Amino acid sequence: MGLSTIILAAGQGTRMRSALPKVLQPLAGRPLLGHVLDCAAALSSDDVCVVYGHGGDAVRKAFEDDGLRWVLQAEQLGTGHAVQQAMPDTPDENRVLVLFGDVPLLTTATCERLVEETPQDDVAVLTVDLDDPTGYGRIIREGGSVNCIVEEKDAGPEEKAVCEINTGVLVCPADKLRGWLADLGNDNAQGEYYLTDVIAMAVNDGVTVHGVKADSWTEVMGINDKKQLAEAERALQARLVDELMAHGVGFADPARVDIRGSLTCGKDVFIDINAVFEGDVELGDGVTIESNNLVRESSLGAGTVVHSNCHIEGATTGNDCEIGPFARLRPGAELANNVKIGNFVEVKKSTVADGSKVNHLTYIGDAEIGKGVNVGAGTITCNYDGANKHKTTISDGAFIGSGVELVAPVKVGVNATIGAGATITKEVGDEELAIERSRQKAVPGWQRPTKKGS
Ligand code: UD1
Ligand code: CA
Repeated sequence: MGLSTIILAAGQGTRMRSALPKVLQPLAGRPLLGHVLDCAAALSSDDVCVVYGHGGDAVRKAFEDDGLRWVLQAEQLGTGHAVQQAMPDTPDENRVLVLFGDVPLLTTATCERLVEETPQDDVAVLTVDLDDPTGYGRIIREGGSVNCIVEEKDAGPEEKAVCEINTGVLVCPADKLRGWLADLGNDNAQGEYYLTDVIAMAVNDGVTVHGVKADSWTEVMGINDKKQLAEAERALQARLVDELMAHGVGFADPARVDIRGSLTCGKDVFIDINAVFEGDVELGDGVTIESNNLVRESSLGAGTVVHSNCHIEGATTGNDCEIGPFARLRPGAELANNVKIGNFVEVKKSTVADGSKVNHLTYIGDAEIGKGVNVGAGTITCNYDGANKHKTTISDGAFIGSGVELVAPVKVGVNATIGAGATITKEVGDEELAIERSRQKAVPGWQRPTKKGS
């Protein structure tokens, strides 16, 4: 029996009070729906179908290339009606797994447990016990199995006292579900076609309905507003950091780090407080990330240290580099081994070879810097002429004095030296010294201007 996963994502999400559709709200840097899709993808379903409605175009566009089946629910008439929209192309011989687009922390393991532990001809709902079940559908059991689900608005006092609630996740044989959905009515407090009503229909047809309990509430929490979104963010961050700690990554404070993407770490990595990782980030063995750093789409080699307050994006480093404090590596910054990039240095689309140092107050853009180069404080590669970008080449062993402007395109030869304060517009040959500054004048007894009226 194959598996068809149907994800309900047509709801409006008014309580978000946002122009962005609810299922596109970001959680750990990925839209809510993306997390549910990841879970569904890991389940080896034959078919993943998203029922969409509000914000439809934007939602579809965000996941255009994911090989999904999209079904429009033009009017939101209830969860049962939503599932019904996806049924025409769902094969009778499959089982259907229903997920909600606004329940993003559900794990693949829990879905697998639900699908695998349920006999193929039976129905199962994922439930959880809550101290305060207000607002949710209540699980009414008889014997061990589930008898029906009663929505809060339709519940009497006895039913309201039940603390086991419906999470919305359900598995069911497709052929039977098709029949039950066709018989759904909307004669209830909300005038909606409730998916939950198929439970009583199943029981009526002699089908056993299992209530499978989720391990934790956070895993099945639904996101309706910004407060719940923030709670889910913290819960997910805690889960991601726990996984990294289990692999040996050290954190000064597991609560003060944010991972918005995938962070892959070697052995003995240490991460201090307020580090933010975005996109795919790789940290080699023994990398240290000091406090207040943003690292996005970058790969840092073994033994590299990022001192406090750096902004690193689209960069790669070799081993044992030292970056910052207060450095900025922009896309295309490629550092080899033992490179030092110091405070207030910006590096963009440039390669820096082994052992070179750019320690203070410098802009390196569109440059190729050789091995063992020393770039003095306040040096600028003037790469942009107002229309085009040009390249600066600094060869192995060159020494660039402080305050030098290198007007690109320009090349500095092997072991060349440039005296402080030069504006270099022509090639400097190998082993040459280039000096470019006017002679110092002395004016003896110079009277400084004084302030008028004093
Ligand atoms: C639903 C369940 C309730 C459960 C709760 C868990 C029903 C009738 N009730 O209630 O038992 O305890 O979830 O959070 O199923 N949606 C559509 N189209 C619609 C209506 C909803 O796609 O016409 C989608 C929403 O986008 C959302 C999901 O279905 O992802 C749940 O809808 P919602 O209106 O939030 O259901 P609840 O009233 O919370
Ligand atoms: Ca809900």
